[in-house]
Amino acid sequence: MLDPYKIREEFPILKRKINDHPLIYFDNAATTQKPEQVIEAMKEFYENHNANVHRAIHTLSQESSELYENAHEEVAKFINSGGMEEIIFVRGTTEAINLVAYAWGLRNLKRGDEVLVTLMEHHSNIVPWENLSKINGFQVKYADVNNDGTLNYESFENAISRKTKIVCLSHVSNVTGVISNVKKIAKIAHEYGALVLVDAAQSVPHLPVDVKDLDIDFLAFSGHKMLGPTGIGALYGKREILEEMEPFHGGGSMIREVTFNTITRRCSVSLNDLPWKFEGGTPNICGGVGLMAAVKYLKDVGMENVKRHEADLTEYALRRMKECAKVTIYGPKDVSVKCGILPFNVEGLSSHDVALFLDSYGIMIRSGFHCAQPLHEKLKLKSSARASFYIYNTLEEIDRFAELLKEIE
Ligand code: ALA
Repeated sequence: MLDPYKIREEFPILKRKINDHPLIYFDNAATTQKPEQVIEAMKEFYENHNANVHRAIHTLSQESSELYENAHEEVAKFINSGGMEEIIFVRGTTEAINLVAYAWGLRNLKRGDEVLVTLMEHHSNIVPWENLSKINGFQVKYADVNNDGTLNYESFENAISRKTKIVCLSHVSNVTGVISNVKKIAKIAHEYGALVLVDAAQSVPHLPVDVKDLDIDFLAFSGHKMLGPTGIGALYGKREILEEMEPFHGGGSMIREVTFNTITRRCSVSLNDLPWKFEGGTPNICGGVGLMAAVKYLKDVGMENVKRHEADLTEYALRRMKECAKVTIYGPKDVSVKCGILPFNVEGLSSHDVALFLDSYGIMIRSGFHCAQPLHEKLKLKSSARASFYIYNTLEEIDRFAELLKEIE
């Protein structure tokens, strides 16, 4: 069992007061807070091991290279991939999806092809495909979402065809917390010969995720939403697909050799091994170290425990919020099909007004579109307020939140 009170002791920021009230942090879908273990690992790296990776033969470079490689291995094990060759470190989910769009899509998608996404996607799983379609001339199709925010599987099955070359969907919606059946989608997509890219920004931090079991081709997620630092995330790709792909960024470290031909006066380039072929330039080494510490922390807590704790919080929050006459909650109410994200509105108030009111009592939530405007349009919402939970949140915090919601005028 997870003990949120013990966990809280390890998060320095949770001792803060905001507007003279104890901080209640309910904006975990945007970013999570960091435990001492992550902060210390990064401090220790800069104090004792800092050097560039994979370039020099001196001791510090050996140490930092080893730490950076270990970080890839830890992430690989965390999602049960075949090894660090399948884990590319990127800035975050957005960069991971753009990497697939430009390193795979640019060469493999052409006029007449289709990319199938869903209406519940975060903009980062829509915009790269819409942008690339303007260059390559393929069509982006959208599987529909039901009124409760769940994926409309019938619409998905109607939209997929032999023209579909890749299906791109979020595992967990960042607005409603809805968990989509990625395994079922992957099976159907593969029957049509399409690849599957999963935006796991809101699932890897909250659920056990096993890329082999899901049988997906790409998985993208961010370190900062799972206790790690900002500016680091990972793209998982099946080894055979990554082997075939050309790099995204050209530069140092992603090449094995660059040789100048004095006759043609051109350089020829041979590429480095996986995953370095996709990590041009000096990477975010300390970010990788911080991510490794975050992964270890979550492994110690246990992802099944994380999932259960969030389900308990969500169930309780749903019950308490229903007591607030002016509050409307969106999305499914069954916690077995969703994670700890609750979008809502308060009658007569904008979502920003609600967020500002709660902020004045030390409660942090997000308000607006949450980078998912098409889903808000589909649900006929101008915007929404959103509370999202994590391992350090407690039932008492939800009580305080619900009591304040009742007081809003
Ligand atoms: N994608 C993040 C969110 O949903 C920023 O808030």
